[in-house]
Amino acid sequence: MADSFLIRGGARLTGKVEISGSKNSALPILAACLLAEGKTTLKSVPRLSDIDSMVKLLGEMGCHVFRHEPTEARVGALPPLNGNLDIEVTDERVSEARYDIVKTMRASICVLGPLLAKRKRAVVSIPGGCAIGDRPVDLHVRGLQKLGAEFTTEGGNIVGTVRGRLKGCRMYLGGAMGPTVLGTINVMCAAALAEGETVLVGAACEPEVTDCANLLNKMGAKITGHGTPEIRIEGVDKLVGAEHRIIPDRIECGTFMMAAAITNGELELKHCNLDHLIAVQDRLDEVGVKIRRENGTIFVSSSRRLNPIEMTTQPFPGFPTDLQAQLMALLCLADGMSVITERIFPDRFLHVGELNRMGAKIRKEGPTAIVHGVKELQGAAVMCSDLRASAALVLAGLAAKGQTRLDRVYHIDRGYEKIEQKLMAVGADIERVAER
Ligand code: EPU
Repeated sequence: MADSFLIRGGARLTGKVEISGSKNSALPILAACLLAEGKTTLKSVPRLSDIDSMVKLLGEMGCHVFRHEPTEARVGALPPLNGNLDIEVTDERVSEARYDIVKTMRASICVLGPLLAKRKRAVVSIPGGCAIGDRPVDLHVRGLQKLGAEFTTEGGNIVGTVRGRLKGCRMYLGGAMGPTVLGTINVMCAAALAEGETVLVGAACEPEVTDCANLLNKMGAKITGHGTPEIRIEGVDKLVGAEHRIIPDRIECGTFMMAAAITNGELELKHCNLDHLIAVQDRLDEVGVKIRRENGTIFVSSSRRLNPIEMTTQPFPGFPTDLQAQLMALLCLADGMSVITERIFPDRFLHVGELNRMGAKIRKEGPTAIVHGVKELQGAAVMCSDLRASAALVLAGLAAKGQTRLDRVYHIDRGYEKIEQKLMAVGADIERVAER
């Protein structure tokens, strides 16, 4: 049965929160393990349903995956969450990603590049529509074609084959909407085992791309330029298992920064990297939120006099689309009119209607939302539509007057490790109940 959250708003959040390893780094990194011989040990792998789906997919592709008991992120006195995971390919016969798994998790597409490079064949169900908009995979396919892979589509599947070995080349990887994060990782993974040099021009610069390149280099790859729009990959004959710690989840961290701000609170966020959130820090500064860093800890506090701002989502290092909804929830309570423009997924606004049910005044015009600040939000029954929209509704519920009932929280469980436990430990009044 699906779960719901009951949130009684108004509590000021104070205390420490341990940020988990990054979901969006861990997912493609798990897929990259298909490339290696021998065991890879990944540290700080968050416990999330999307990670479980990827582990299931890799299990079907002949990987042996072992989850160690969690040891890291702590929530008050509760058992730790984050943990280590060992992964080793033991059987290379199956190269198929079934629709049943792909439809629940689009990041399944990340197996395409590794399978083609290592097993010379891949059958991956084409990911369908998505709550945040059209999400084509044409750039992934084009990039891999340029390395020499051949593709057909059969019965809703992308069928890719490689004759001989992939061959490196110089290519432009950007699309109409700019660079692609998972597309860059897919092609980079395949190029790591290709013959000769590949240069990816217009590559994504997100920290998750850098994290994956760092792991591949530990496995024996020769990659330079990751973190910039031009990545160079000198192909090698084989990759071997390595040990790697996943970077902190910058989106979880940004969400908790906004939780401190919207509740007039004071949070100490442990195990995070503010360099990955520079645009978020810039926007929150202007809102009036106080942010201070000491080593890997971020201190966030707010007096809840929030200034209205303008914000446009952009590829890294710009403001991430994955924090657009959460910022919108915060700006609902600012003193004046804010303007939010979505440049990555122009239809990613399903939270607008739900926030308006809670008393917000938001008007959507194409890829822009105009947010008129209100004095207070009111608790209401609202529905999760996708991961980040749901996080925005949790934030709104924490600040709202009265009780908010949030249904379909399985969307949140995909990407936030035990969010209600972490929030409860810093004073939120939130409980998980069975959906009516
Ligand atoms: N695009 C194309 N063709 C492609 C690929 C992408 O046109 O072949 C377009 C997309 O439609 C979009 C833009 O390019 O307009 C950028 O999409 P991108 O490929 O970068 O997105 P992604 O790699 O599929 C990852 C994250 C998303 C995050 C985006 C943007 C993972 C598992 N997913 O998706 O995370 O929003 O990058 O930063 O890493 C989330 O965590 O909630 C989430 C949706």
